[in-house]
Amino acid sequence: MVLIHVVRGFGTTMRHLKSVKLKKVKGASSHEWLSRQLTDPYVEKAKIMNYRCRSAFKLLEIDDRFKILRPGFVVIDCGAAPGSWSQVAVRRVNSDGSDPKQAQGLVLSIDKQQIFAINGATILGNLDFTDVKSQEILVEVLGGKKADAVISDMAPNASGFKELDNENIIKLCYSVLRFAVQNSRAGACLVVKLWQCGQAKQLENDFSKFYASVKYVKPNSSRSDSAEIFLLGRDFKGLKN
Ligand SMILES: C[S@@+](CC[C@H](N)C(=O)[O-])C[C@H]1O[C@@H](n2cnc3c(N)ncnc32)[C@H](O)[C@@H]1O
Repeated sequence: MVLIHVVRGFGTTMRHLKSVKLKKVKGASSHEWLSRQLTDPYVEKAKIMNYRCRSAFKLLEIDDRFKILRPGFVVIDCGAAPGSWSQVAVRRVNSDGSDPKQAQGLVLSIDKQQIFAINGATILGNLDFTDVKSQEILVEVLGGKKADAVISDMAPNASGFKELDNENIIKLCYSVLRFAVQNSRAGACLVVKLWQCGQAKQLENDFSKFYASVKYVKPNSSRSDSAEIFLLGRDFKGLKN
C-alpha cells in the first residue's frame, strides 16, 4: 500500500526512537552498540533537538558548509526512514511554512520501510526507490516541478560480505544519479552516501559528467571508524535536448 500524506506534529518521534532502541538491543553486539549509543554526544543531541536519529547532524554539517538547502527548494530524500534528514530538510526549505516570510519548499521522503509522519514532508513509505513504479510515483507527486536537491542516505542491508555490500550501495547511488539527472533543474545538487571502496572513483567520474563541482565529504558526525562517505555533486549542468 502506498501512503502519501502531509501531516502536522512530531508526536511519533520519541516513540519511534524507543522502538529503534528496543529492536537493536539484542544479540551479541548489543552491548557494544548500547555503550556506543550511551557515550555518543550526537545521540544525546539528537534527542534534545527532537531529531529521530543522529544522522541529522551529517546533513546539517553538509548543508552548513555547502548551502544546498534553501527556503522554497524542492528536496527528494531517498532512504528517508526514520526521518531525521527529512526533518532537517523541512526546516531548511521551509516546507512546513513555519516562516511565512520565506518561500515554502517541498520535501518528498521515500523509503522501502514505513516512515512515521513528519510535519511538512510528503511521505512515500513502503516503496523501493529503485523500482520504476516508485520513481513514477515520485514524478507524479512532483507534479511538473524539478528537484533542487536530491539527497540519499540509502544503504542496503548488510550481507556480511564487504564486496557485495559495496556493490549494492554503488547500485543504489547510480539509481539515485539516474533519477536526479532526469528530474532536477539545472544548478541543482545531489548528495549520496556510499562506503569507501574501489568503485568510488568511477562514481565520482560519472558524477562529473553531470555536475560542475563534485567532491567527497566526511562530516565530523560520521563515525571515524565507519567507511561511510558522502559524494556531493553541485551545479547540475542540465540535460541537453
Ligand atoms: C541510514 S538509513 C537513513 C536514515 C535517514 N537519512 C535519517 O536521517 O533518518 C538508510 C535507509 O535507506 C533505506 N533504503 C535502503 N535501500 C532502499 C531502497 N532501495 N529504497 C528505499 N529505501 C531504501 C533503508 O530502509 C533505511 O531506512
